[in-house]
Amino acid sequence: MVSLEELAGGQPDLSQAVLLFEAGRHRVYWVGSEEATHFRCNAYLLCHGDANVLIDPGGRFHYDQVSRRVEGVVDPQKITHIVVQHQDPDLCGSLPLWLERQGGIKVLTNSRAAVLLPHYGLTCPIEETDDGWLPLGDGAKLRFLPAPFMHFPGAFVTYDPISKFLFSGDIFAAVNADWQMFVQDFDLHSGFMEIFHTDYMAGHRALAGFTAMLRREQVPIRAILPQHGSIIMERDVPKALEWLGNLLCGLDLIYPADEPRSTPSQRRSPPAVPVADRALGKRPMNTAALVLGLLLILTVGAAVEGWIPTLAR
Ligand SMILES: [Fe+2]
Ligand SMILES: [Fe+2]
Repeated sequence: MVSLEELAGGQPDLSQAVLLFEAGRHRVYWVGSEEATHFRCNAYLLCHGDANVLIDPGGRFHYDQVSRRVEGVVDPQKITHIVVQHQDPDLCGSLPLWLERQGGIKVLTNSRAAVLLPHYGLTCPIEETDDGWLPLGDGAKLRFLPAPFMHFPGAFVTYDPISKFLFSGDIFAAVNADWQMFVQDFDLHSGFMEIFHTDYMAGHRALAGFTAMLRREQVPIRAILPQHGSIIMERDVPKALEWLGNLLCGLDLIYPADEPRSTPSQRRSPPAVPVADRALGKRPMNTAALVLGLLLILTVGAAVEGWIPTLAR
């Protein structure tokens, strides 16, 4: 029996697939990419009997290492489904390579992403996940839950009722060069998640709506498995949901006049310059500094040129 808590005590051997859950015919593996980058990508393989489901298989450049890890578990010819939780290239740019190898794979995504995936050169039919479930056999099934505008309008997450894992795509993603497979210190880790969510998530309403939906649906979550960053363990799940539901990001910061109500402790000074300028390192102009500067120029000018007496005459 695999214990996530025991696994989280150290860094697992990343040269191969990492078994995260096992119960009878049901297994879940990490098969992501390993490289020295802040934007490291996770991919997951879920096996249940004859069903072998890849979730967010990764970009084209990661195909070799992800497929090598998958080969250690199952013949890639036996992959039955690929779930694409939104259509970004870091998440599914490798799709054409997987389908070249096994043309019978069923690709599943939301109807909004389904119109975009063919632009990767796919000619296969794409199944839409909008009805919410993927049967795996023996009554087991995966559940798809909507996550609108997080960050794609048709984004969704995948819940496995057997492992109680929530595969969250870019939600709860973090950017951190010092990557660990499991979150060790949530408060420290939330800073790395904030960097990602600030610029990639639509805004507070999307985040709060998503966390409210999870609470309403009452899905018990044993771990959150994002596409970037570290796996959030059960002990930190309540904190993670609270953190996400209270975060200001995206449009809250770009258009602060529309900022939703929040407690003072959650308020931060939003930048008054567009994101494009922030990316270039420009700083918002401080009005007080501008007024002080003008007064200083006038005072120096008056002292040197005698402007004030001249103007008074
Ligand atoms: Fe994305
Ligand atoms: Fe991503």
